Amino acid sequence: MRNSLCHMLGIDIPIVQAPMGGAVGPRMAAAVSNAGGLGTLPLWLGSMDQLREQVRETKSLTSQPFAVNLNMEHPQEERLEACLEEGVPIISFFWKEPSDLIARAKKSGAVVMQTVGSAEDARIAADKGADIIVAQGWESGGHVCGTVAAMPLIPSVVDAVGDLPVIAAGGIADGRGLAAALALGASGAWIGTRFLACEEADINSLYQDSILSATENQTSYQKDLFDVGWRAAPHRVLRNSTVDQWEAAGSPSSGERPGEGDTIGKSRSRGDIVRYQSYTPAPDAEGNVEAMSMWAGQGLAMINDVKSAGEIVREISEDAKAIILNLKM
Ligand SMILES: Cc1cc2nc3c(=O)[nH]c(=O)nc-3n(C[C@H](O)[C@H](O)[C@H](O)COP(=O)(O)O)c2cc1C
Repeated sequence: MRNSLCHMLGIDIPIVQAPMGGAVGPRMAAAVSNAGGLGTLPLWLGSMDQLREQVRETKSLTSQPFAVNLNMEHPQEERLEACLEEGVPIISFFWKEPSDLIARAKKSGAVVMQTVGSAEDARIAADKGADIIVAQGWESGGHVCGTVAAMPLIPSVVDAVGDLPVIAAGGIADGRGLAAALALGASGAWIGTRFLACEEADINSLYQDSILSATENQTSYQKDLFDVGWRAAPHRVLRNSTVDQWEAAGSPSSGERPGEGDTIGKSRSRGDIVRYQSYTPAPDAEGNVEAMSMWAGQGLAMINDVKSAGEIVREISEDAKAIILNLKM
């Protein structure tokens, strides 16, 4: 499956483990990179020391390339400098326009990936110098930057950016999804929710069990429901009691929602968790975990077992290869 995207990233299989804040640590990223895909560390919030520690730990677990994801909702100049000093080879930018950070990363020799939700944003990222465009469909789990589903978005973005490789995101959870992404003109797949059901995922067991049992119609796209800590940022979550109660109350706006400000749980690292908080339930989360923001994409019905991250990469790649070879007219 080695294609031009693989050459650019220095990997063997065109599968990128999507950055997932609060769910991905060095173990998962390194396992994916060791299996021939690309592991991605979301390191956009912690301190510089934590960033350097995670990068160094990942390097101790793999000699293969991996990426660091920076969310432009927050200032990232200092974190980018730390990544470049640590020799991170690939930087992924998400959410807002990264202004001149793309040029800064490239000046140090890093490959830059930019996530977009529209062809227009893809063109802007290409003009700014991004090497690779990640086209994130509306079916994606977590924070979602556009409102177009992957099936129409991918060809639009591919057509918009000419020769730049495009990676498809949203609802890809098995070999069929990777094969479809390649057929639509993408050069690889950016897979999130499937990796929440891997042995290396740093998430609460109730969250993981919910991923395993849910089906494709059990997510909810919300403009700003889980907005405590990150306002006005559309997202897709598992439908849960918080979503149901809010809808039953007539979907009131922020400040007037049922149970607003209530503490619904806590975790050792984050302290109290309030209702409507933007928070990925961690293994140590206690309390009403079911009511927390359990980010998930629409590929849920394809996710029925927990495997190692490496196995997931190998299985998706082998299945996609077989599907492509067996396609008949
Ligand atoms: C739990 C979770 C956390 C996420 N956190 C981030 C993040 O920190 N940075 C980012 O660029 N995207 C984040 N995303 C979006 C993913 O990178 C990716 O676009 C999405 O998962 C793809 O759709 P899928 O979940 O259907 O595979 C997150 C997604 C999930 C499910």
